[in-house]
Amino acid sequence: MNCKPISFHLRENPAGNLSFLEGEHDLPFEIKRAYYIYDVPADGRRGFHAHKELQQCLICIHGSCKILVDDGKEQRVYELNNPNEGLYIGPVTWREMFDFSDGAVLLALVSQYYTEEDYIRDYAQFKEYVNGGSDK
Ligand code: TYD
Repeated sequence: MNCKPISFHLRENPAGNLSFLEGEHDLPFEIKRAYYIYDVPADGRRGFHAHKELQQCLICIHGSCKILVDDGKEQRVYELNNPNEGLYIGPVTWREMFDFSDGAVLLALVSQYYTEEDYIRDYAQFKEYVNGGSDK
């Protein structure tokens, strides 16, 4: 499974904590794009796709949510509930995000500019791609 939790650098201070990370140093890619998901209803479920090349790091900077990752062979569920921790997700990994707490904000730091070409949005196609199907 090409996914792993990452803890960031933390500067604790009575006046408030500060977390930081640097592309290429703390993540295995250069950060080219950021996006964030918020105002997700309690029963909202997002994602339902994999990427061919894109790598990303998901950080729940407020509240909590769960991330299901699936490499076509194995599934795992991670809970993100700490702004000093993220989940790295490598290429060719199906992901679904769910169980967002009220007010949760999920930040994604991403290795590529947006292009729909990199998405695999159909689970059957994802399985074919993993198994070296015609889309590869
Ligand atoms: P999508 O990646 O499907 O969201 P999620 O995986 O969270 O359900 O993106 C939703 C829509 O936003 C889709 O029409 C593509 C568009 N979009 C952009 O235009 N740029 C971006 O950087 C992202 C992440 C999405």
